[in-house]
Amino acid sequence: MKQKFSGLRGMSDILPPDTALWQRLEATARETFKRFGFDEIRTPIAEETALFERGVGEDTEVVGKEMYSFLDKGERNISLRPEGTAPVVRSYIEHAVHQREPISKWFYIGPMFRYERMKTGRYRQFHQLGAEVFGVAKPQQDAELIQLALEFLGRLGIVDVRLELSSLGNADCRRRFSEKTYAHFSSFRHVLSEDLQKTLERNPLRLLDSKEEAMAPLMASAPVLLDYLDEASREHFEELQRLLRLSDIDFVLNPRLVRGLDYYSRTAFEIVAQNPALGTASTICGGGRYDGLLEQLGGPSTPAVGFAMGLERLCLLMEAQPQPALQGPMLFLVDAGAADEVWKLLARLRKAGVSAEADLRGGSVKSQLKRANKLNAQYCMVLGDDELKTGQAKLKDMHSGTEREVPLAELEGLLR
Ligand code: HAM
Repeated sequence: MKQKFSGLRGMSDILPPDTALWQRLEATARETFKRFGFDEIRTPIAEETALFERGVGEDTEVVGKEMYSFLDKGERNISLRPEGTAPVVRSYIEHAVHQREPISKWFYIGPMFRYERMKTGRYRQFHQLGAEVFGVAKPQQDAELIQLALEFLGRLGIVDVRLELSSLGNADCRRRFSEKTYAHFSSFRHVLSEDLQKTLERNPLRLLDSKEEAMAPLMASAPVLLDYLDEASREHFEELQRLLRLSDIDFVLNPRLVRGLDYYSRTAFEIVAQNPALGTASTICGGGRYDGLLEQLGGPSTPAVGFAMGLERLCLLMEAQPQPALQGPMLFLVDAGAADEVWKLLARLRKAGVSAEADLRGGSVKSQLKRANKLNAQYCMVLGDDELKTGQAKLKDMHSGTEREVPLAELEGLLR
């Protein structure tokens, strides 16, 4: 028996007509990001494993447990990118971009890889649309990015969302907060699983991120990071809130918002969709400031802030809404005994920039018309002996049903 293959678990094919939804999403992204002054960057899908260990953090779930890492034929330890920020920062530093321009505003669209447990909205290959800005320390930049994210979602018709905000302060206040968190959870050590005890010792802040049920009652009395903010971070956070109010952007403060990646400082935010289609994977956008990451990766001290959205999750939300009907070819040519003419006309029209189609299997006029309907063609034209003789044919509007006689020689001009 011949072996049958299927795609890897958690990695999906995207087939037509679903690709149309993705194209709409990507086109809207490019258009909106351009309007906000962003240019596209493309980085490879694989990087040195150490980039993610150092950039995102070895103790995070994403790097510690979910990376697709392997030795290549040259015995180098490389990983499929689990996220886009560390690669973009690597590229920014490697090409010394700060010497060319004081501010860089970049976006990217592409696949990311995390070996996660599969469920709705959570995949092993998924796609992110991300934005990163280098060179602006002020909260105006955080606010502009949030505005961009919401504007983009709005243009896709995704408006039933909640913006959650927090601030993680500077490294010093995170250290103090980490000590308090350690002290708090230490007193409950006896109820923590072995895994959680290890996390407590390595990186107590990760406990606040834990989804284990045993943790829920311990969270209520856990210290809150916003109470430990340094003065400059507090001012930054308050100014950000003021700017959002100025732009009529609603938000809720979520002091328990600890993002799953280690590089953040000050602003952290998430956009959560209120739609059951996503199940528990309701966060469609996550981001924040990472002013220390560039230096940490050997680059110049440069303030930076960004976000990324999960495109599969956006598609699930879009699918839950009525979508405009797919537009088929502009003209469908039907061969009723004029095969050569159909063949020549098809080439002529396409060359002139008209999307034209015919059924290359041939067959009865009826079956060809059926195909035209299936493709949702805008116009249809039947060509046979009479049409060849007179050089005229009926152009039928498939949607209104109206017909008019047109000269074949002028067809491309008429349709364009
Ligand atoms: P993140 O929160 O890990 O942040 O991911 C951002 C978004 O990617 C999530 O909110 C979610 O929509 C989507 N996502 C994550 N994992 C999966 C998955 N397994 N399946 C489907 N969708 C998923 C980052 O990656 C940061 N790099 C964001 C950032 C950019 N921060 C600053 N700049």
